[in-house]
Amino acid sequence: MTTSGSLDLEGIDFAFEDAPALHDILADLRARKPYAVVPFAGVRAVLLLTHELVSAAFKDEETFPASAIYPLTTGPVLGHTLQCMAGREHRVNRAIASPPFRRSRAKDYIEPVLAPLAHELIDEFAARGEAELVAEFTSRYPVLVISRLLGLPVEDQDQVRRWAHDLFYFPFEPDAAMAASREFAEYILPVMRRRKAEPGDDLISKLVTESAEGEYLTEEQVLAFLRLLFPAAADTTMLALANTLVALLTHPEQLELVLSDPGEQVPWAVWEGLRWEPPVGLLPRACPEATSWQGIEIPAQTPMIFSINAALRDPAVYPDPHRFDITRRETAMLAFGQGPHTCAGTWLAIAELQTALGVLLERLPGLRLRDGAGEEARIRSQVGVALRGPSTLPVRWTT
Ligand code: HEM
Repeated sequence: MTTSGSLDLEGIDFAFEDAPALHDILADLRARKPYAVVPFAGVRAVLLLTHELVSAAFKDEETFPASAIYPLTTGPVLGHTLQCMAGREHRVNRAIASPPFRRSRAKDYIEPVLAPLAHELIDEFAARGEAELVAEFTSRYPVLVISRLLGLPVEDQDQVRRWAHDLFYFPFEPDAAMAASREFAEYILPVMRRRKAEPGDDLISKLVTESAEGEYLTEEQVLAFLRLLFPAAADTTMLALANTLVALLTHPEQLELVLSDPGEQVPWAVWEGLRWEPPVGLLPRACPEATSWQGIEIPAQTPMIFSINAALRDPAVYPDPHRFDITRRETAMLAFGQGPHTCAGTWLAIAELQTALGVLLERLPGLRLRDGAGEEARIRSQVGVALRGPSTLPVRWTT
């Protein structure tokens, strides 16, 4: 197999364009071969389409190092984040930054934040009988979770949300994103210094006081990690929650199944939502050196696209893969990547999604899409093609 010769697909540039029938396009390409050569920002990219290839590529940090792409794509606005790091630096930073998000911290640290916050947001609109859930819930909840886990004052949270929003739109509005990046640094650096002097039980205190392999994080490393949390933790979870809601609201029999036993079914609805429409759908990477990998000849500097969304609909792993079916009982872990850069917040994300979905269904009985809102609530590309979710979610319920 070789990447020279004609492209496998023309008419869509995978760096820029939304394709309404994306899943069909990916399935057609995968039926031909496990990868495809497609246009990406005007050059040829290798799109990996099967569960086997995407999983192998994530684990092969030597051939497709995260550090070959993130300094270019997010480095200017987020700084030198975990995603830009490799080797010992990455190990030390992860060893300090990821334990606060683990399941073992749930009872005392994470759970007390999640359900009360979901109720607090829903209190604002529950009596109304209708809402636009992206604006009023899904885009607010995950960033407020982060803001509270960081121990930031509640009165600052609207400002924090505005910075998070501007960082998200970096590819389209780079000036606003750079300004948000600077202003967030000016706001958070004094907080970091105060917490170092007088640590509490919050995430920032842990980042500035803990060490691994005899090393502490530098101010710049802590700052970059905190900035990374907005796109990596908040925006992903926002899209995941909205995608699962779209799935349930467009599959009434599945919603009924969830409502018949929420304690048992909500966790599986969350996993199936992540499989059916993972928020990080088409993850860009790069192949810096020329290589022959899994039988594919890849020239140096080739952009790679790890199609998580095609992998999670690979019929070799998931029978009848396009069907949204919460009785599959599959944990679609690939939605969180794999290998050394796998998601550091997987458990937090799952806890947030399960809590939010459970509370929404409990508080909004008879939840349904507003009549005729199907097209508005369509899952589409968000800020380039990597991320996918609905832009709006107009719903009604019974009051
Ligand atoms: C449903 C929600 C989420 C999804 C689908 C998701 C997905 C991912 C994926 C696919 C990666 C790997 C990226 C790569 O290899 O280039 C990643 C990395 C990461 N995620 Fe998540 N994520 C979610 C929520 C969160 C949350 C809540 C946090 C909070 C801590 C978080 C923190 C991170 C961090 C810090 C990384 C970088 C890890 C590293 O480079 O070592 N994510 N995430």
